[in-house]
Amino acid sequence: MQTIRDLDLDGKRVLVRVDFNVPMDAAKNITDDIRIRMALPTIEHILKQNGKLILCSHMGRPKGQRVDDFSLAPVAAHLAAIIGKEVTLAPDCVGAESEAMVAAMQPGEVVILENLRFHGEETENDPDFAKQIARMADVYINDAFAVSHRAHASVVGIPAHVAERAAGFLLQTEMDFFHKAMGAPVRPLVAVVGGAKVSSKLGALHNMLDTVDTMIIGGAMANTFLKSQGVDMGASKTEDDLLDSAREFVAEAEKKGVVLYFPVDFVAADRFAADAVVKNVTFRDVPAGWMALDIGPASTTYFQEAMNDAKTIVWNGPMGAFEMDAFARGTMAMCQSVASSHALSITGGGDSNAAVKKSGESANISYMSTGGGAFLTLMEGKTLPGVEILKG
Ligand code: 3PG
Repeated sequence: MQTIRDLDLDGKRVLVRVDFNVPMDAAKNITDDIRIRMALPTIEHILKQNGKLILCSHMGRPKGQRVDDFSLAPVAAHLAAIIGKEVTLAPDCVGAESEAMVAAMQPGEVVILENLRFHGEETENDPDFAKQIARMADVYINDAFAVSHRAHASVVGIPAHVAERAAGFLLQTEMDFFHKAMGAPVRPLVAVVGGAKVSSKLGALHNMLDTVDTMIIGGAMANTFLKSQGVDMGASKTEDDLLDSAREFVAEAEKKGVVLYFPVDFVAADRFAADAVVKNVTFRDVPAGWMALDIGPASTTYFQEAMNDAKTIVWNGPMGAFEMDAFARGTMAMCQSVASSHALSITGGGDSNAAVKKSGESANISYMSTGGGAFLTLMEGKTLPGVEILKG
């Protein structure tokens, strides 16, 4: 795969697909700009090489409609403030006015096209739509790892119509770290998987059995696994249609020599509420009508021990309902364990990254992926369409 460093950008129109799908509050302040900051090496490189920088991104899911709330205007202003340079927002991502704006650009200038998803053709990967955008570019760069699992026009359609295409620094970094973790890991490799649903991660869990040495399973998904082994989980969230799949998974892990760790105790509550009655119980003692909402202190120690010798740790999904303080301790302890480990540590997914941020340990994690769905797609052992197109 070519990278941006391999290309001569001098005076060229360089279209960069970024993922500036950033969270904003009601007043349109960007509450987490990490995705913008992670694209800065690519942005600065293009400007230094005297390229004409044309950025394009989606924001939210406006379903093909022009919705002001999903405008990239706040992003353009935020980026301008960071790079100390004017960033012009084109009125649309296609059309005569935007094309004229790009045609008038001088080297070193920055234009950002308005939200790609204001057009249904983006998610439909419409060839005419892709061609209209492609004709504004001499070079196509994908620096949008977080959307590279989507076969959308800006991810696979446009690059097919631009002669020169390459990966940006962020995409390259993401792929390199993922390879270090799951492709050629220094062992032992420990996977920590949590979150609400087994169903959304079953593919990734199975694929990881071929790579990891140890797997720690927490979060509500652990409830289903324990229930499949005959444990009474009270009123805890479980996916009862997946009990057979969970049993098969445990058997497969055993066959493949992967050591599985499940919680040995829980923080249980009489209901899912911040002011619920809460107590620590062993995994065998979740009271009838109560629910497990976090791993307990014994599980925290047990999981920490499982990571003691790790040389590589991959983490996706929280250990409990950490958005409520009463059920955050297990996930916060996991953040500290991963952060204090000497292993190469990689986290992916919005929830895990939000948890790490909340714990204040971001600087002590080797790499926090900007991808949610894209990270999971790689964990499932699949390729990313946005990466594959760059190889052709
Ligand atoms: C994300 O936030 O994970 C990416 O921006 C992709 O967004 P999408 O799930 O709406 O395609």
